[in-house]
Amino acid sequence: MICYLINADVYFPVYIFLSAQKGEIVGIRIKGTGRYIPEKILSNDDLEKMVDTSDEWIVTRTGIKERHIAADDETTSDMAAKAAKAALENAGITADMIDLIIVSTVTPDHAFPSTAALVQKKIGAGKCPCFDQEAACSGLLYAFNTAYGLMASPLAYKRVLVIGAEKMTSLVDWTDRSTCVLFGDAAAAFVLENDGNPETEDYYVAGEVGADGEWADILRVPAGGTAMPPSHETVDAKLHYLKMGGPKTFHMAVLSMTNACRAVLEKSGTDVQDVTWAVPHQANRRIIDAVAERLGIPEKVYLNVDRYGNTSSASIGICLDELNRSGKLKRGDLVLAASFGAGLTWAAMLIRW
Ligand code: ACO
Repeated sequence: MICYLINADVYFPVYIFLSAQKGEIVGIRIKGTGRYIPEKILSNDDLEKMVDTSDEWIVTRTGIKERHIAADDETTSDMAAKAAKAALENAGITADMIDLIIVSTVTPDHAFPSTAALVQKKIGAGKCPCFDQEAACSGLLYAFNTAYGLMASPLAYKRVLVIGAEKMTSLVDWTDRSTCVLFGDAAAAFVLENDGNPETEDYYVAGEVGADGEWADILRVPAGGTAMPPSHETVDAKLHYLKMGGPKTFHMAVLSMTNACRAVLEKSGTDVQDVTWAVPHQANRRIIDAVAERLGIPEKVYLNVDRYGNTSSASIGICLDELNRSGKLKRGDLVLAASFGAGLTWAAMLIRW
């Protein structure tokens, strides 16, 4: 079963979410990519001055050397809009040509309106439908899956903007060394286009998305929602910051990403050696190494966790944009992307570039 939160500004029939099954040929491809990385860098050396940690501990345990931090007045929708503009330019289209905007985020500007609606305004898109989708770090792949379902459904959206954007540092307790070293801020965006040509090969080869609410407690922000509305007490107790059972999350991450990748390869009848790039969620170098080793493709793994840390739903998107813009991806290449996140959620997707 798939579980995620949709914050919609418009009404969507339920059936469209059930249609993300590869069936008829629809010819949807990734036409453009973009990213936005905030300017300010927070290095491990900087963190040494803030909490009792060391560059050696952080690099050995996580592979992270630095992360980028959004400015105080910079919001998730600001970053998302900048990534979106880069993707539109890369695709060679204008914002008014977009039919639907989906933003994956756990750090929306507000509970409502949706971050997607704010992005629509900031990029100057028309009055297209917009909604946020929340599946934590698995969110971008969930959103790719949702976008495919909507484009292949009778609604037949032609061009969809899919964005993963996070200001994770807004959820970080800068006095908690076990979590504050892990996260960074960023956004990535994609223009998906159904060009109407039956000869066009879909980007979506196969997908696997799942969740297990039994593990909801290992990764969460306790207060701020209906379970614990904000109060002086919740602020004093630092309950608006993210809490994580690190070792358990590590274990579940390796298991769920490996299984999801294997399921996708099996569904599509693809030999893992035919994969051009493996793009895992960049949470921790040791998690990535463990998954790559189990799949037998360590040499195909794309890594940038050292430069950005964990940017949640932006992380896989940044990797794909870097690969695309550096010319390391060619049309027809197969990309195996995989992620895990709070929920616990997981997702894997085999993408044809
Ligand atoms: N610097 C120095 N020491 C530290 C630090 C730090 N930054 N953080 C923790 N320690 C200490 C602990 O206090 C502990 O000390 P103790 O033994 O005296 O009690 C020791 O290091 C070991 O702590 P562990 O938590 O067991 O360390 P571990 O090897 O498991 O690494 C880590 C911790 C990096 C958090 C790891 O568990 C991990 O990566 N987990 C997965 C996290 C993740 O991927 N989260 C992503 C989800 S985010 C999302 O979905 C929105």
